[in-house]
Amino acid sequence: MQKNKLAIIGMGNVGSAVLVQAVAQQLAAEIVCIDINEQKAHGEALDMTHATPAGCSPDVKIYSGGFEECKDASIIICAGGPSIMPDEKHERLILAKRNIKVIGDIMKEVTSYTRDAAFIMITNPLDVTTYLAVTRFDYAPGKLFGTGTTLETLRFKRIIANHYNVNAKDVQGFMLGEHGNSAFPAWSTVSIGGVRLNELDKYYDYNEPFDKEKIANTVVKTAYDVLESKGWTNTGIAMGACYLAKAVLLNTRCVTPVSIPLTGEYGLNDVALSLPSIIGENGVEKRLAIQFPDSELEALHKSAESIKSILRANSL
Ligand code: LAC
Repeated sequence: MQKNKLAIIGMGNVGSAVLVQAVAQQLAAEIVCIDINEQKAHGEALDMTHATPAGCSPDVKIYSGGFEECKDASIIICAGGPSIMPDEKHERLILAKRNIKVIGDIMKEVTSYTRDAAFIMITNPLDVTTYLAVTRFDYAPGKLFGTGTTLETLRFKRIIANHYNVNAKDVQGFMLGEHGNSAFPAWSTVSIGGVRLNELDKYYDYNEPFDKEKIANTVVKTAYDVLESKGWTNTGIAMGACYLAKAVLLNTRCVTPVSIPLTGEYGLNDVALSLPSIIGENGVEKRLAIQFPDSELEALHKSAESIKSILRANSL
């Protein structure tokens, strides 16, 4: 019987935040921390394991190890490689050359042990590394997917919920496309408690005008605001990644946008980007087809082109 084992690759700010969330949410009975800096992985595992008697799952087994530990993992979360630094221009795509190499090396190691584990990619530029991992390492599309605009969608829902002073869980709708600067709001999918925005606005007096463009820009800018404020981002992405891991491990079949290569949807091929997907025990179980209005279809193609330009520049 396959054990419920999570392997976290990359124990930097993001990987260590994933570890904390995975233990707090009791995602796995066993968690292995893997990092090129073995001492760092050991330190993160040691620190966390000694905290568990105070936490909710003291029986969770936490340790550090090498890639061979992926062999019997049920799920892998990869945050290997450097993330954007505040002193660089606000663009995840500048990490492409460096992290294509990092993820190539990681995938060589992982696929020498398994292609059965579900694999959630976090490493930026997310859509580029996801496309690389799926298309160059023969990992079943869907079994390997990128966190994508799940994080932008969390930020989008928070901002809209604040505006209407409602619970963010009652805001439906997605940010789609690139996990990055060309991510766009699919306003056609947005509702609050099932009531579409244009309906709601007829009866709602709110304190400031609902400025769609400003909200879209604020969502994309959030990562950079966090980055400038604390030096990195990790909490939001760790929560998003664990939300997706829980969907796989517990087959929750939640609907959220994640990144996998497209095979002709909306006339798009040879690119990975985020569209609304059902996430369950097999990873991406199904993608939802949306009848986008022309403006959103245009934004999707613009986002695809932004990622494709980096794929072409790196011969992917
Ligand atoms: C962010 C990083 C994970 O958006 O790209 O916080």
